[in-house]
Amino acid sequence: MEQSASNSKKKIIILASGNGTNAINIYHYFRENKEVEVSHILSNNKTSRVLRRAHDLGIKCIHFEKEDLYDSSNLLNVIKDINPDVIALAGFLLKIPISFLQEFPNQIVNIHPSLLPKYGGEGMYGERVFKKVLKNNDKEAGITIHYVNENYDEGEIIAQYKVELEGNEDLLSLEDKIHALEYEYYPKEIEKLLD
Ligand code: GAR
Repeated sequence: MEQSASNSKKKIIILASGNGTNAINIYHYFRENKEVEVSHILSNNKTSRVLRRAHDLGIKCIHFEKEDLYDSSNLLNVIKDINPDVIALAGFLLKIPISFLQEFPNQIVNIHPSLLPKYGGEGMYGERVFKKVLKNNDKEAGITIHYVNENYDEGEIIAQYKVELEGNEDLLSLEDKIHALEYEYYPKEIEKLLD
Protein backbone atom coordinates (compact mmCIF):
# COMPACT_ATOMS: atom_id res chain seq x y z
CA MET A 1 0.00 0.00 0.00
CA GLU A 2 1.22 3.48 -0.82
CA GLN A 3 0.98 6.82 0.94
CA SER A 4 0.48 10.37 -0.31
CA ALA A 5 2.68 13.41 -0.10
CA SER A 6 0.96 16.17 1.83
CA ASN A 7 -0.20 19.41 0.24
CA SER A 8 -2.54 22.21 1.18
CA LYS A 9 -5.62 21.08 -0.77
CA LYS A 10 -8.59 19.53 0.95
CA LYS A 11 -8.60 15.85 0.22
CA ILE A 12 -11.29 13.46 -0.82
CA ILE A 13 -10.59 9.77 -0.97
CA ILE A 14 -13.01 7.42 -2.66
CA LEU A 15 -13.68 3.77 -1.83
CA ALA A 16 -15.23 1.73 -4.62
CA SER A 17 -15.62 -1.95 -5.45
CA GLY A 18 -16.86 -2.13 -9.03
CA ASN A 19 -17.18 -0.04 -12.16
CA GLY A 20 -16.30 3.25 -10.55
CA THR A 21 -18.24 5.55 -12.82
CA ASN A 22 -19.18 7.69 -9.81
CA ALA A 23 -15.62 7.69 -8.52
CA ILE A 24 -14.26 8.88 -11.86
CA ASN A 25 -17.05 11.43 -12.18
CA ILE A 26 -16.14 12.90 -8.79
CA TYR A 27 -12.49 12.97 -9.81
CA HIS A 28 -13.32 14.93 -12.98
CA TYR A 29 -15.59 17.33 -11.09
CA PHE A 30 -12.73 18.42 -8.81
CA ARG A 31 -9.87 18.07 -11.29
CA GLU A 32 -9.41 21.80 -11.93
CA ASN A 33 -10.28 22.81 -8.38
CA LYS A 34 -7.50 24.74 -6.66
CA GLU A 35 -8.67 23.91 -3.15
CA VAL A 36 -9.95 20.34 -3.34
CA GLU A 37 -8.62 17.16 -4.86
CA VAL A 38 -9.46 13.52 -5.13
CA SER A 39 -6.19 12.30 -3.72
CA HIS A 40 -6.69 8.53 -3.87
CA ILE A 41 -9.09 5.88 -5.07
CA LEU A 42 -9.12 2.71 -2.98
CA SER A 43 -10.65 -0.63 -3.78
CA ASN A 44 -10.98 -4.04 -2.19
CA ASN A 45 -11.31 -5.52 -5.69
CA LYS A 46 -8.00 -5.97 -7.44
CA THR A 47 -9.50 -6.59 -10.88
CA SER A 48 -12.16 -3.89 -10.65
CA ARG A 49 -12.78 -1.48 -13.51
CA VAL A 50 -12.49 1.36 -11.01
CA LEU A 51 -8.82 0.58 -10.33
CA ARG A 52 -8.10 0.22 -14.05
CA ARG A 53 -9.82 3.50 -14.83
CA ALA A 54 -8.11 5.33 -11.98
CA HIS A 55 -4.74 3.93 -12.95
CA ASP A 56 -5.23 5.03 -16.59
CA LEU A 57 -6.01 8.56 -15.39
CA GLY A 58 -2.93 8.67 -13.19
CA ILE A 59 -4.91 8.82 -9.96
CA LYS A 60 -3.17 7.32 -6.95
CA CYS A 61 -4.73 3.92 -6.31
CA ILE A 62 -4.66 1.63 -3.34
CA HIS A 63 -5.79 -1.95 -3.43
CA PHE A 64 -6.45 -3.54 -0.07
CA GLU A 65 -7.63 -6.91 1.12
CA LYS A 66 -10.67 -7.42 3.33
CA GLU A 67 -8.28 -8.30 6.16
CA ASP A 68 -6.66 -4.87 5.93
CA LEU A 69 -10.09 -3.43 6.68
CA TYR A 70 -11.31 -5.80 9.36
CA ASP A 71 -8.45 -7.74 10.92
CA SER A 72 -5.72 -5.15 11.26
CA SER A 73 -5.21 -1.43 11.38
CA ASN A 74 -3.26 -1.48 8.09
CA LEU A 75 -5.82 0.35 6.02
CA LEU A 76 -6.85 2.70 8.81
CA ASN A 77 -3.23 3.73 9.28
CA VAL A 78 -2.73 4.35 5.56
CA ILE A 79 -5.87 6.51 5.48
CA LYS A 80 -4.85 8.38 8.63
CA ASP A 81 -1.57 9.24 6.91
CA ILE A 82 -3.44 10.60 3.89
CA ASN A 83 -5.55 12.64 6.32
CA PRO A 84 -8.65 13.03 4.11
CA ASP A 85 -11.34 15.62 4.76
CA VAL A 86 -14.02 13.42 3.23
CA ILE A 87 -14.15 9.69 2.58
CA ALA A 88 -16.71 9.04 -0.14
CA LEU A 89 -18.07 5.56 -0.76
CA ALA A 90 -19.13 5.06 -4.37
CA GLY A 91 -20.36 1.56 -5.05
CA PHE A 92 -18.32 0.24 -2.13
CA LEU A 93 -19.82 -3.02 -0.96
CA LEU A 94 -18.08 -3.75 2.34
CA LYS A 95 -19.26 -2.54 5.72
CA ILE A 96 -17.19 0.23 7.29
CA PRO A 97 -15.80 -0.81 10.70
CA ILE A 98 -16.50 1.18 13.84
CA SER A 99 -12.81 2.10 14.17
CA PHE A 100 -13.11 4.12 10.94
CA LEU A 101 -16.32 5.80 12.08
CA GLN A 102 -14.63 6.83 15.33
CA GLU A 103 -11.53 8.12 13.56
CA PHE A 104 -13.49 10.07 10.92
CA PRO A 105 -16.77 11.19 12.52
CA ASN A 106 -19.16 12.83 10.01
CA GLN A 107 -16.55 12.52 7.29
CA ILE A 108 -17.61 9.24 5.69
CA VAL A 109 -20.46 9.47 3.19
CA ASN A 110 -22.20 7.05 0.88
CA ILE A 111 -24.44 7.19 -2.14
CA HIS A 112 -27.33 4.77 -2.46
CA PRO A 113 -29.46 4.33 -5.58
CA SER A 114 -32.86 4.59 -3.88
CA LEU A 115 -34.89 6.90 -1.72
CA LEU A 116 -33.88 5.48 1.64
CA PRO A 117 -35.24 3.99 3.82
CA LYS A 118 -36.83 2.28 0.81
CA TYR A 119 -34.72 -0.52 -0.67
CA GLY A 120 -31.77 -0.19 1.69
CA GLY A 121 -29.88 -2.62 3.87
CA GLU A 122 -27.43 -5.45 3.42
CA GLY A 123 -27.38 -6.92 -0.07
CA MET A 124 -29.35 -4.05 -1.57
CA TYR A 125 -27.22 -2.50 -4.26
CA GLY A 126 -27.24 -1.72 -7.95
CA GLU A 127 -29.55 -3.89 -10.03
CA ARG A 128 -31.19 -5.46 -7.00
CA VAL A 129 -32.57 -2.08 -6.02
CA PHE A 130 -33.76 -1.30 -9.54
CA LYS A 131 -35.54 -4.65 -9.85
CA LYS A 132 -37.55 -3.87 -6.72
CA VAL A 133 -38.49 -0.45 -8.02
CA LEU A 134 -39.73 -1.96 -11.29
CA LYS A 135 -41.50 -4.86 -9.62
CA ASN A 136 -43.40 -2.48 -7.36
CA ASN A 137 -44.32 -0.21 -10.27
CA ASP A 138 -43.02 2.78 -8.34
CA LYS A 139 -43.93 6.15 -9.78
CA GLU A 140 -40.70 7.71 -8.62
CA ALA A 141 -37.15 6.65 -7.86
CA GLY A 142 -34.09 8.49 -6.68
CA ILE A 143 -30.82 8.63 -4.82
CA THR A 144 -29.78 9.21 -1.23
CA ILE A 145 -26.52 10.70 -0.06
CA HIS A 146 -25.99 9.95 3.61
CA TYR A 147 -23.44 9.74 6.38
CA VAL A 148 -22.20 6.25 7.07
CA ASN A 149 -22.90 4.69 10.43
CA GLU A 150 -22.53 1.16 11.78
CA ASN A 151 -25.56 -0.15 9.87
CA TYR A 152 -25.93 -0.48 6.10
CA ASP A 153 -27.74 2.54 4.61
CA GLU A 154 -28.99 3.85 7.95
CA GLY A 155 -26.79 6.88 8.59
CA GLU A 156 -28.20 10.40 8.72
CA ILE A 157 -29.50 11.55 5.35
CA ILE A 158 -27.70 14.51 3.80
CA ALA A 159 -29.75 14.83 0.61
CA GLN A 160 -32.18 12.98 -1.62
CA TYR A 161 -33.00 13.62 -5.27
CA LYS A 162 -35.97 12.16 -7.11
CA VAL A 163 -36.93 11.36 -10.65
CA GLU A 164 -40.39 10.59 -12.02
CA LEU A 165 -40.78 7.24 -13.69
CA GLU A 166 -42.75 6.53 -16.83
CA GLY A 167 -44.88 3.44 -17.30
CA ASN A 168 -42.42 1.77 -19.65
CA GLU A 169 -39.22 1.86 -17.62
CA ASP A 170 -36.81 -1.06 -17.86
CA LEU A 171 -33.59 -1.83 -16.01
CA LEU A 172 -31.43 0.12 -18.42
CA SER A 173 -33.58 3.22 -18.55
CA LEU A 174 -33.96 3.26 -14.78
CA GLU A 175 -30.25 2.80 -14.26
CA ASP A 176 -29.55 5.68 -16.66
CA LYS A 177 -31.88 7.97 -14.74
CA ILE A 178 -30.36 7.07 -11.40
CA HIS A 179 -26.81 7.44 -12.66
CA ALA A 180 -27.64 10.83 -14.13
CA LEU A 181 -28.80 11.99 -10.67
CA GLU A 182 -25.71 10.51 -9.04
CA TYR A 183 -23.30 12.15 -11.45
CA GLU A 184 -24.98 15.52 -11.07
CA TYR A 185 -25.44 15.64 -7.32
CA TYR A 186 -22.89 13.48 -5.51
CA PRO A 187 -19.90 15.74 -6.28
CA LYS A 188 -21.91 18.84 -5.37
CA GLU A 189 -22.98 17.40 -2.03
CA ILE A 190 -19.38 16.44 -1.28
CA GLU A 191 -18.33 19.98 -2.15
CA LYS A 192 -20.90 21.37 0.29
CA LEU A 193 -19.54 19.13 3.04
CA LEU A 194 -16.05 20.47 2.43
CA ASP A 195 -17.27 24.07 2.82
C1 GAR B 1 -24.09 3.34 -7.82
O1 GAR B 1 -25.34 3.36 -8.46
C2 GAR B 1 -24.28 3.48 -6.32
O2 GAR B 1 -25.38 4.25 -5.97
C3 GAR B 1 -24.49 2.05 -5.92
O3 GAR B 1 -23.60 1.32 -6.69
C4 GAR B 1 -23.46 1.95 -7.96
C5 GAR B 1 -21.99 2.03 -8.30
O4 GAR B 1 -21.83 2.40 -9.62
N1 GAR B 1 -24.26 1.87 -4.53
C6 GAR B 1 -24.96 1.01 -3.81
O5 GAR B 1 -25.85 0.31 -4.27
C7 GAR B 1 -24.57 0.96 -2.33
N2 GAR B 1 -25.50 0.18 -1.58
P1 GAR B 1 -20.40 2.84 -10.14
O6 GAR B 1 -19.42 1.79 -9.66
O7 GAR B 1 -20.52 2.86 -11.62
O8 GAR B 1 -20.11 4.19 -9.54
